[in-house]
Amino acid sequence: MKIKYYGHSCFLIHVGGKKLIFDPFISPNPQASAININLIEADYILISHAHQDHMQDAAQIAKRTGATIISNWEITQWFAQKEQVPAVHPMNTGGQWKFDFGTVLLTPALHSSSFPDGSYGGNPNGFFIESNEGNFYYSGDTALMQDMKLLGEYKKIDFAFLPIGDNFTMGISDALIAANFIKCDKIIGMHFDTFPFIVINKQAAKVKFSNAGKELFLMDINTELSSLDIINAKVSVG
Ligand code: NI
Ligand code: MN
Repeated sequence: MKIKYYGHSCFLIHVGGKKLIFDPFISPNPQASAININLIEADYILISHAHQDHMQDAAQIAKRTGATIISNWEITQWFAQKEQVPAVHPMNTGGQWKFDFGTVLLTPALHSSSFPDGSYGGNPNGFFIESNEGNFYYSGDTALMQDMKLLGEYKKIDFAFLPIGDNFTMGISDALIAANFIKCDKIIGMHFDTFPFIVINKQAAKVKFSNAGKELFLMDINTELSSLDIINAKVSVG
């Protein structure tokens, strides 16, 4: 599995021979100005909720590549009707589907989900993905919540994407508790530094995790990591 960071909460993940893009918000993000969205290849676009900073580039990428949008019922219908995207796969919270790259479980998230035009965006979600190359959890925008314990109890999570920017989502302290809830030591931070409200002290965040025996990966935009680098990383104390 290869993981490329496109800024904010947007990642491109190669898994099972397919390319999955999560929460595409690239062209409006000045920190991601080096990335040309017209060159991004995708087979699937996974959208956690209807906020602009998670789906701004989804329609354009979907129309150019033919990628299938995977999201909740309300979001997939909005993209099918308003944007006439070529393919959608609607799901809803708690539902699971076996795709050609692996299995997707739509998890709950504690947040909100309205479209910029005021349309109802359903409930916010996260994704738990099981594949032959490992399992990961992408929480979407969320607060810390007890439901995360269920994932930790019943699923094996090799690594997880959690928001750490605070203000709109969990901050570092709650993300560390979330990592305990899901029983996962390898966390990739997201939803930080994009806007003034979510600027964090990256060094302090990494130290907080390593002091707790966990590794926090803060990827530079437009860089790539192998899932093996994450899974095999030794937690550096202090
Ligand atoms: Ni949001
Ligand atoms: Mn957001």
